[in-house]
Amino acid sequence: MRKKIVAGNWKMNLNRNEAISLTEAVNLFCQQNYQELNLKNIDVVLAPPFVYLDSCSKVITNTKRLFISAQNCHTEEKGAYTGEISVPMLASLGISHVIIGHSERRILFHEDHEILATKVKAALKFDLIPVFCIGEVLSQREAEQHFEVIEKQLYESLFSLDVSDFCKVVIAYEPVWAIGTGITATPAQAQEMHLHIRKVIGHKYGLQVAENTSILYGGSCNAANSAELFSMPDVDGGLIGGASLKAVDFITIIQAVN
Ligand code: PGA
Repeated sequence: MRKKIVAGNWKMNLNRNEAISLTEAVNLFCQQNYQELNLKNIDVVLAPPFVYLDSCSKVITNTKRLFISAQNCHTEEKGAYTGEISVPMLASLGISHVIIGHSERRILFHEDHEILATKVKAALKFDLIPVFCIGEVLSQREAEQHFEVIEKQLYESLFSLDVSDFCKVVIAYEPVWAIGTGITATPAQAQEMHLHIRKVIGHKYGLQVAENTSILYGGSCNAANSAELFSMPDVDGGLIGGASLKAVDFITIIQAVN
């Protein structure tokens, strides 16, 4: 049974106290609902900014279903890269996941598929789970190139992995036109793309691997629309931005994946 995952990408938001309070609230919820989360194979992941990773990690008491993720990592293990954070550094804090390939990193920080492929391999080398984001921009959807774009992103950055490594990766489909815009993909659009992604994975790695891969939806997913999106058979949870910053909203979204 593939995992359901609800992940909160806090981006560059919150101060230290707010970050800790939010982690405490989600931790309490996960603790109180542990049996149910466990039974339904649901993981909850929080991705605070780098500076709060250690403090937030220390808040967590339910380490089996609640995890802390980094939002980014560097390709190299160490060296003269002022301001950067490496995967072994994250591993030494007990960080379990890292978001790679977010459209903000691709577009604003010019991360191309080679850099992203290297980051994925670096994460896997130190046993971090890559949450790998893919998604088309609006002009590509309007030109009906979205399936092609997604296939290319998968092939270029992930499909050189051997099957045992690929099995550790979580995919997040995030149409760029939906991120932070309030315009969500319809459940039908999300399902259509997730099914397509699963087929592409099946073609490369086989049906069983495709069936076991968790594919999350991201892009203006919130407390009001998450239940409908998550009810789609190939949508295995969400990567949540804005709506992950408020405990009540994020907890509603976790409940929606049920
Ligand atoms: P959003 O962001 O939920 O604020 O649209 C999602 C993301 O960027 O991961």
